[in-house]
Amino acid sequence: MPRTGAVHGLIDTKVEAGLNMTKVLGIHSSPIKNGNTAWLLEYALREAEKAGEVITEAVALAGLTIADCRHCNWCMAKQTPEKLCSITDDASPILEKIRDCDVLILASPVYFSRLSGTMACLIDRTRCFTFGKNGHLALKDKVGVALAVGWCRNLGMETTLASIHGAFLVHEMLAPSCHAAGALYGAGVVSGQRDETFAYKRDKLGVKDDREGLRSAGLLVLEAIRTAKGRTI
Ligand SMILES: Cc1cc2nc3c(=O)[nH]c(=O)nc-3n(C[C@H](O)[C@H](O)[C@H](O)COP(=O)(O)O)c2cc1C
Repeated sequence: MPRTGAVHGLIDTKVEAGLNMTKVLGIHSSPIKNGNTAWLLEYALREAEKAGEVITEAVALAGLTIADCRHCNWCMAKQTPEKLCSITDDASPILEKIRDCDVLILASPVYFSRLSGTMACLIDRTRCFTFGKNGHLALKDKVGVALAVGWCRNLGMETTLASIHGAFLVHEMLAPSCHAAGALYGAGVVSGQRDETFAYKRDKLGVKDDREGLRSAGLLVLEAIRTAKGRTI
């Protein structure tokens, strides 16, 4: 759902209006549309909007068809600005959105101490930028933020974040850390909240109660916007 901080409209509005807007694209890969990762992404985008002159858009990968990269190398020889990848599926418009944003937030649930398979598929399809004939280095100097949601605080949060972070680095993107936020590779937020007896609470949106995790995510996103705006704010 596209939203804006200061101006309402689609991300393309920035170009049309000629405004100095920072375009923040958030993508989450939970199969649960209104689950923890979706909630965290919305939270992060709301925090981003606080910086001002920011346009945000959220994309949920749930239910979309995102094929594996076939390693066909079509992008290396035949890519055009209009057709980035030989495969036409739901990833096609998302790849264009990634190419056109300033800040890319990738939010994944922690699955077996790594990012989810759906997010991995999408990331693999961004090979059309690293090796694409037209898209080569198209993501260079964009700013990346990794967000992860795990049931537990120490059961794969950082490895999940690092796997997303690695993708940013392959693209020579900027991936700021924020010491004050306790966020190095990104921000992890815990969904499996416990009560005072250390028993799990039943709240299905446990991320809402991880105040430390949310603070980390918010500060990191603001640092990303600051980086995208040339550290002038
Ligand atoms: C296949 C699978 C593997 C999981 N592996 C982990 C794990 O390794 N570490 C962890 O902390 N949580 C793990 N979880 C729990 C999810 O990360 C957690 O429930 C999270 O809130 C899911 O996000 P969602 O509510 O947005 O779907 C796993 C969940 C599933 C379905």
